[in-house]
Amino acid sequence: MSIVDQTREGDILVLTINNPPVNAFSPGVPEGLHAGLDAAEGDEGIRAVVIIGGGRTFVAGADIKTFDLPREQAPDLRGFISRLDAFPKPTVAAIHGTALGGGLEIALACHYRVATKDAKMGLPEVKLGVLPGAGGTQRLPRVVGVQKALEMMLSGNPIKATEAKELGLVDQLVEGDLREEAVAFAREHANTRPLPRISERTVEGVSPQVFAAAREGIGKTHRGQLSPGFIIDLAEMTTTQPFAVGWEEEARLFMAAKDSPQSRGLRHIFFAEREAGKIPGLTRDTPTTDIRSAGIIGAGTMGGGIAMNFLNAGIPVTIVETGQEALDRGLAVIRRNYENTAKKGRLTMEDVEKRMSLLTPTLNMEDLADADIIIEAVFEDMGVKKDIFTKLDAIAKPGAILATNTSTLDVNEIASVTGRPEQVIGLHFFSPANVMRLLEIVRADRTSDSVLATSMALARRIGKVGVVVGVCDGFVGNRMIHRYGDEARKLVEEGANPQDADAAMNALGLPMGPFQMSDMAGLDVGYLIRQHQAKVRGLPKPDGWLDRIVERGRKGQKTGAGIYDYGEDRKPRPNAEVAQLIEDYRAEKGLESRELSQEEITERLVYSLVNEGAQILDEGIAQRAGDIDVIYIYGYGFPAHRGGPMGYADEVGLKNVVAALEKYGQTPAPLLRRLAEEGGSFAGWDRAKSQA
Ligand code: 3HC
Repeated sequence: MSIVDQTREGDILVLTINNPPVNAFSPGVPEGLHAGLDAAEGDEGIRAVVIIGGGRTFVAGADIKTFDLPREQAPDLRGFISRLDAFPKPTVAAIHGTALGGGLEIALACHYRVATKDAKMGLPEVKLGVLPGAGGTQRLPRVVGVQKALEMMLSGNPIKATEAKELGLVDQLVEGDLREEAVAFAREHANTRPLPRISERTVEGVSPQVFAAAREGIGKTHRGQLSPGFIIDLAEMTTTQPFAVGWEEEARLFMAAKDSPQSRGLRHIFFAEREAGKIPGLTRDTPTTDIRSAGIIGAGTMGGGIAMNFLNAGIPVTIVETGQEALDRGLAVIRRNYENTAKKGRLTMEDVEKRMSLLTPTLNMEDLADADIIIEAVFEDMGVKKDIFTKLDAIAKPGAILATNTSTLDVNEIASVTGRPEQVIGLHFFSPANVMRLLEIVRADRTSDSVLATSMALARRIGKVGVVVGVCDGFVGNRMIHRYGDEARKLVEEGANPQDADAAMNALGLPMGPFQMSDMAGLDVGYLIRQHQAKVRGLPKPDGWLDRIVERGRKGQKTGAGIYDYGEDRKPRPNAEVAQLIEDYRAEKGLESRELSQEEITERLVYSLVNEGAQILDEGIAQRAGDIDVIYIYGYGFPAHRGGPMGYADEVGLKNVVAALEKYGQTPAPLLRRLAEEGGSFAGWDRAKSQA
């Protein structure tokens, strides 16, 4: 089987692309396709050409791995597409699976498109910080209209073949054998002339308002990003310029977007997300358990949110509380959440009832005896957790996974009270657990491979992005955020306003800065932890400016007042009393106040994450730098187009990060220093090699 197979079906030539797993347009594919077109052109007996994907899909796009190759070495998709468009014999794209990006662009350059009913098609380039660069911005609006094309190109989300048929993007839907029907279709249209070329169509009657609205929209959905603006400009050109002009401009803007740090960041995340699913030492055939039922201990905010993930995936849940009132309250919150979703039209009331019917409330822990997985989501206290796991050890059936949703505690210690530590794992959900996509999967010393593999598979099933982390205080996400929080407080001590710190992070693209985030999480949480830790360590009672704010009853958004004031709209507004409190604090402690630039604030905050991340990596708590980036994007709102904190540091250059840390009087982590000295990067760092 060659990378592009040529098969003659009488007077039709079928070109089958075989480039698993997703038939990306990799080196070798254009050569094979050109050879196929040469054969069709040179043989009078061939009247039409069908292009089809071998395996599970049509072409899923350009090969993202080749984006950084020099232009002359990268597969020439545009060259192939130009030839296809001008080809003198009819060409038919036969689509199954997904036709994405360059894949859909190939299909759009064919004269006809047929597709299986379950196929999907889209232009997801925006998710990689680029734009459809092989005619997509010019052809799609000419077929489906500007409005729909903008919607598809700006969201990057694919549409179903059935919708594509209604839009005229697909000429025929296929129920039976795709290849056979595509050949029959090609034969039927073999003599049709002139050939229907999308590039020859015109777009008329589009109100300028459409583009103005789109530009306004991306200000909210893609703040600070380059390629969405380019996409709108190019779509507008379809209404004002001939195809050839838009086609050339598209090439120029594609290159500009592709060579931007934003695209490098997003591509890094694309691969990091896929890598995160792979666990060194675990093979594909590691046995997994089918999770058919779940038990959750605790019907509070966390327990309820976790339960919803399972209910959404159709997995029955038994939820346990210690008192009837708390149980009723927990259930009512879950129901209210679902009903609110239904009000927004995203669920029917029938769905709501179906999900609620999968939920069994109980006050009796023994009712968890049949559950395949039990997740404890109670108060963060080692004594309480140990007590629960001791009981669970007696109740749970053999083989059940016993998981803790702790965000900081030692999972090894929790596992040690059971007679089956190999069945114990940490599943750290992020609040609100029914919304946030991140799941830190905490591998304890004795967690079995099978429990780990089952947990990873379960994460996917319930729509989470699972990342494996090791045991330490705060695991990856919270351990880093503590350092960031400390740095933010220090910045204020030195003279910054809380709103300066937040504004710097907002400018970077984080929806919330450190203080907006603390207010949302509740200031009392950190306050109680600080007070508790000081007590345990025999240290004086903490008395930072933030502690003083909490002691005035300002606990954050939930009390309408924290570092900021909050009205009905929940927007943070600076408060004069807080500003005065900070000023008094500085004066009392003899802290000299100075002006801090946005650059300094940004560097100190982001590099505090990076420095702790490097240490975490060195200790083996995270397997790879990309895992840390995935955690920060899905758990903390770090903008993907910045590549996550570690990807951002790579982009800045580790030497520069080290120099900045030193300038601010901080000690770079040994791994960070070493990589900077070697001219290395986090992305290029490989634990196995570094230990060899
Ligand atoms: N290039 C290179 N590798 C790709 C790829 C691509 N376009 N698409 C997927 N892969 C790789 C993945 O990295 C993964 O590799 P791995 O097994 O080594 O980790 C493997 O293919 C399978 O991918 P998934 O794990 O994502 O498989 P799924 O079945 O879950 O999803 C998919 C399949 C829907 C095709 C998904 O992979 C996807 O969305 N791919 C990206 C599609 C895309 O963005 N296309 C546009 C590319 S840009 C472009 O075309 C520019 C043009 O306009 C000029």
